[in-house]
Amino acid sequence: MTHELASAVGLPSPTPAEGPLAASNSSKGRGWWRDAVIYQVYVRSFADSDGDGIGDLRGTTQRLPYLAQLGIDAVWLTPFYASPQADGGYDVADYRTVDPLFGNLADADDLVRTAHELGMRVIVDIVPNHTSDQHPWFRAALAGPTSQSAGSARERYYFRPGKGPAGELPPNDWESVFGGPAWTRTADGEWYLHLFAPEQPDLNWDNREVHEEFESVLRFWLDLGVDGFRIDVAHGMIKAAGLPDIGHKEQARLIGAQKLPFFDQDGVHEIHRSWRRLLDSYPGDRIGVAEAWAPSPDRLALYVRPDELHQAFNFQFLRCPWDPAAMRAVIDESLAATASVGATTTWVLSNHDVVRHPTRYGGGRRGLRRARAAALLMLALPGSAYVYQGEELGLPEVTDLPDEVRQDPAFFRAAGQDGFRDGCRVPIPWAGQEPPYGFGPGSSWLPQPDSWRELSVEAQTGDPYSTLELYRSALELRRRLPGGPMRWLPGPEGLLALSRPGLVCTLNTTGSVIEIPLPGRLLLSTDGMEPSGDTARIPTDSCAWWAI
Ligand code: NOJ
Repeated sequence: MTHELASAVGLPSPTPAEGPLAASNSSKGRGWWRDAVIYQVYVRSFADSDGDGIGDLRGTTQRLPYLAQLGIDAVWLTPFYASPQADGGYDVADYRTVDPLFGNLADADDLVRTAHELGMRVIVDIVPNHTSDQHPWFRAALAGPTSQSAGSARERYYFRPGKGPAGELPPNDWESVFGGPAWTRTADGEWYLHLFAPEQPDLNWDNREVHEEFESVLRFWLDLGVDGFRIDVAHGMIKAAGLPDIGHKEQARLIGAQKLPFFDQDGVHEIHRSWRRLLDSYPGDRIGVAEAWAPSPDRLALYVRPDELHQAFNFQFLRCPWDPAAMRAVIDESLAATASVGATTTWVLSNHDVVRHPTRYGGGRRGLRRARAAALLMLALPGSAYVYQGEELGLPEVTDLPDEVRQDPAFFRAAGQDGFRDGCRVPIPWAGQEPPYGFGPGSSWLPQPDSWRELSVEAQTGDPYSTLELYRSALELRRRLPGGPMRWLPGPEGLLALSRPGLVCTLNTTGSVIEIPLPGRLLLSTDGMEPSGDTARIPTDSCAWWAI
């Protein structure tokens, strides 16, 4: 929807800007992040400038005008630091260097500056739970004396002797999130902890040097001008004292469902408080975003207390099935939990670790209908929202990748089962009739399906029924709405209806049309619905916004 169209439907213009970033701040001094829409760029799959098949920082910078036009407030960049890429860059060997795959520091600087000029903020990923096994600290730890010697370089990690007569068993029963034991034995017989891949040894946050190093790294990027950090595994940096056994297997399934001795320990909050003080010492509103898989909305809210981080992804919402009662419950619980600490909720439907939501909602036409409807619901809720690259194009999960192209370490550690994370990381289609659909001048590191020809940015631009134009319209309208609290409206079974100042949002989750009295003037709908008379017929699996 153009500005003209937004005014045509009777919504006010945004407050005049004081500068490019003020223009994107609809919260008027309350903190830009509170209702920001933040777009996740998975750098290696966004845009490739040099033809090596891997997306990079220059490619991202070249595409920033597209994001500005989409109407987002900020960009979150996944890790682009020097890394052997054992886990898509979440294995960092040098936190202050850009990996040559993605460019160099001048490219990072240029990206941040260009984004700011276009009125968008930039958040970068920080990976503090573990380093790469190629990080100088871990190399020194392996080369140096065992953990029993005072001052050993191993104190920065978790090195322990094994159990069993010859120390041949891991120190405890913890399992890696990616499958298999969370411990690997070194040549000299000690074991080290890695909650993820063996190439990602966990840091010991009881060590003072670890704190100092990360504060210095944060300063490095803040000095370069970034507006904040998405904190990887923000719930995992502190482990329960004594590293106690859990007592049962398949622990990955318990993540986010119950407290584990390696996740959501109370001690992590001290680290987030100290980082908040650091963020606050910089000019501008610099933010911290927790990637925390907490067992309940109340536990998650602890990460966004006033002296901690600004946002925490709401994975309960992401995991919620297509069920109106469940959706309503998760929305209510999340809003109540964050309100109890004075924060707003951070909604998210997809990211680079989960199956894309059109596929989660059933795939095919129905999955896409539901995905579009869920997006409109999400963007109507109070709080902030994250959009994962390609979701604005309605991209589905790619489920038929050949094994030889897969790179997700989880795929290899879990004996080749399907359903891992490469399928949501396929490079996005920009334009043209042939792969890589404008992703770059070469090929793409994962193959794109032929059907993506019709889903490219070029193919969808200007088509009023496309998912891309739906997102553009929703973001444009959202900026113009006054914001404010929401309340549920009564309605027939299967219909979720909520109102906020100036807006009613109706979501039909059922397999049949639902008729309701006209809630207001139609602003936008996922189904091209045309109301007539005093009645609105809300199509199956669709969502509409109404001006009131
Ligand atoms: C969460 C990241 O999003 C994921 O991609 C990564 O594998 C793990 N943390 C480990 O860093």
